[in-house]
Amino acid sequence: RKLSRPSQDVTASIPAAGSIPSLQTLSARRQMYERDFPLYKQPVEVGCFSLDSERRFYNDDRQLRYYVEPERGPNFKLSDGYPDRYVKRDDGVKERLDHILKWILANRSKLEMSHAAATRPSTACDLGVDFVTWRGHLTKLLTTPYETREGWMLAVTRLGGTLYVSEVETEAARRDREASSARHQEMMYWGYKFEQYTCAAEPRGRPDAGGVVNTNEAFCTVVRTRLAAHSLLFSGEVDCRDRDPEAPLAPACYLELKTSAEICTPKQRSNFHRFKLLKWWAQSFLPGVPRIVAGFRDDDGVVVSVETFQTSKISQLIKNEHNCWKPTVCMNFCSDFLSFVKSVVREDNPRVVYLFSWEPHRDVSYSVHRDTQYCFLPDWYVSRITH
Ligand code: A3P
Ligand code: MG
Ligand code: MG
Repeated sequence: RKLSRPSQDVTASIPAAGSIPSLQTLSARRQMYERDFPLYKQPVEVGCFSLDSERRFYNDDRQLRYYVEPERGPNFKLSDGYPDRYVKRDDGVKERLDHILKWILANRSKLEMSHAAATRPSTACDLGVDFVTWRGHLTKLLTTPYETREGWMLAVTRLGGTLYVSEVETEAARRDREASSARHQEMMYWGYKFEQYTCAAEPRGRPDAGGVVNTNEAFCTVVRTRLAAHSLLFSGEVDCRDRDPEAPLAPACYLELKTSAEICTPKQRSNFHRFKLLKWWAQSFLPGVPRIVAGFRDDDGVVVSVETFQTSKISQLIKNEHNCWKPTVCMNFCSDFLSFVKSVVREDNPRVVYLFSWEPHRDVSYSVHRDTQYCFLPDWYVSRITH
């Protein structure tokens, strides 16, 4: 038999008088999160920005595209233009939160005003939000209780009371990215090619399937919302909007575009419901994007059908699957993770990073790093936001 724990461990776990005990780890087991759906306020768009073909930032919607409904029986060959009309973003360049931080600096007065009326007098660098992050990072949190393959690392820094959350690529993810097969590279192109077939640059324009696919270009929405006790400001890429000028205000006019393998067997349908719809739902539910347009394609990348999913109806659609994912588990885990982060990340210092790590079948744990490569708030941001 193994030796019992040394007694020091026991005393060390008793918090000092007056201190708030903060947990060292957080469970990601789905059974822990099956309670009522938490409060999630309707996301409000507070701004947007664009990134051009060279990844330059603009504080406007110049990259927003307009959805053009495909004709019946469309002739979309998703391999067309690969690789000669393809400019791929360099995913080895880590942009961290930089574009969101640029947006915050450019829209600071607007942001401060939007919460000043409702809260205590604000001090320098008080943005009036608890968390700033990318939508994609939150999507990973939502799907964590159901993820069995890929772990994640999230770096968190507290500055002026706001918690900034920025992903750090895991070693496994970097290896996968660098070892990505030629087939996988081409299949990634298919998703962007589908966007080109279904989007126009102007509300009354036509798609230009003969143009170049450049994945540096992006239009991003910035939304504000609340999850239980946490106010959030996050940004996410939006594929296009309804071309009707009478469509509801953003984000209700936005559409998410997706491609997926055509479904031929009950097993494929079940996998689509259990795995793909979870990711699609989480990504679009967070910023309040109400519709997802899916192009189903064959193994050669030819689109065989196009179908629209209402984000709000996805959870109904999957209810017949045995042991399926539940939106409430996703949202409660995310809410509890954010509470965990608040309790752990106490030091308000741009040079300190609390690194939260998770691997499938494990609990979330963390480590603390001072003045290291993990620091992600740039000096140009820290100096302008604290003055
Ligand atoms: P599909 O969504 O059709 O797969 P998004 O759907 O988020 O707008 O992203 C557009 C495309 O980028 C995707 O098309 C896919 O080709 C590629 N992509 C996005 N995230 C990816 C990821 N994590 N791994 C591989 N490809 C990704
Ligand atoms: Mg997109
Ligand atoms: Mg898309």
